[in-house]
Amino acid sequence: MNRLTDLLGTALPLIQAPMAGVQGAALALAAGRAGALGSLPCAMLAPEAMRQELQRLAASGLPYNVNFFCHAPPTPDAAREAAWRAALAPYHAEIGLDLATIAAGPGRLPFGTAAAEVLEAFRPRVVSFHFGLPAPELLARVKAWGAVVLASATTVDEARWLEANGADAVIAQGLEAGGHRGHFLSDDLTRQSGTFALLPQVKAAVRVPVIAAGGIADAAGVRAAMALGADGVQVGTAYLCSDEATTSALHRAALQSEAARHTQLTTLFTGRPARGIVNRAMRELGALNPAAPAFPLATAAIAPLRAHWEAQGRGDFTPLWSGQNASGCLSASAAAITAALAEGFSPGL
Ligand SMILES: Cc1cc2nc3c(=O)[nH]c(=O)nc-3n(C[C@H](O)[C@H](O)[C@H](O)COP(=O)(O)O)c2cc1C
Repeated sequence: MNRLTDLLGTALPLIQAPMAGVQGAALALAAGRAGALGSLPCAMLAPEAMRQELQRLAASGLPYNVNFFCHAPPTPDAAREAAWRAALAPYHAEIGLDLATIAAGPGRLPFGTAAAEVLEAFRPRVVSFHFGLPAPELLARVKAWGAVVLASATTVDEARWLEANGADAVIAQGLEAGGHRGHFLSDDLTRQSGTFALLPQVKAAVRVPVIAAGGIADAAGVRAAMALGADGVQVGTAYLCSDEATTSALHRAALQSEAARHTQLTTLFTGRPARGIVNRAMRELGALNPAAPAFPLATAAIAPLRAHWEAQGRGDFTPLWSGQNASGCLSASAAAITAALAEGFSPGL
């Protein structure tokens, strides 16, 4: 269809966004069979689980994308951890939990040699990264089998950096997007802009194909992004209530309720800004509370609160990731959602 589909090997210039924690190979396969590029998020998968998911994808014969985070592992900061625990202490006390018994520790690992080894056996056609690119020697391993490398940019500077450092296409991630912001050159959120402000500026700044992401939830959104010069689109939130996603019932209900009209960027759940539906934790602690430890260390101390309230059927301390446009969150098959989005690529519609 265009130079992006040539690169990805798909019928459509549409990527089902990788979404760690809410999907696996099943969603990627369903989106892939419908003509999109399906994605497997690996940020929360140990090597053996990753291998099993990759086996399912490889058996399909479809092109697919394997996605990783590539943050610098944080240096633990005892003072910040203590401040974080002090901020959460009243909530632990409220439910009778002893914070002292909760171990600090990371929940998400960046792309490293163990993942590269698993990946090498499968040689996926596309590999995408969030939070920049891995170290040059790791990137070279991925490129060695000819993988197409994609990465998210939240500013024009990041798009230029990615192109200069080996990305074959750039995902322009607007502020509307659900989940983690992909920034890596600056954590100043005021430098970031909405999809339709970012996209044409990125397009003018780089020669590689540009994929628009953030707020695209239906065929009209796809058409608008393509009209603004996108070579393709990446859609996440609209797949969250698909039959094949593993999104919890609680999260699905929030996405399909009035609550989804109010999202905010928050560091409370992982330590990095990510967009989710506003809940009690965000309202009471402040969504960007400076005590939250560096990514991904914030998760450990808030996770028991999440588990407690989820068991009561409440999402008060749950990361209810969502983009600003949850209007496309239909309870439908990924094939139906993909087909509806694909209408946006038809000329004259
Ligand atoms: C629940 C959720 C989880 C996400 N996890 C990842 C991830 O693991 N890796 C990644 O590169 N992007 C992740 N993203 C961001 C998407 O790649 C994409 O930028 C975003 O979904 C596009 O905006 P939209 O949600 O408005 O469609 C996630 C998004 C959501 C909603």
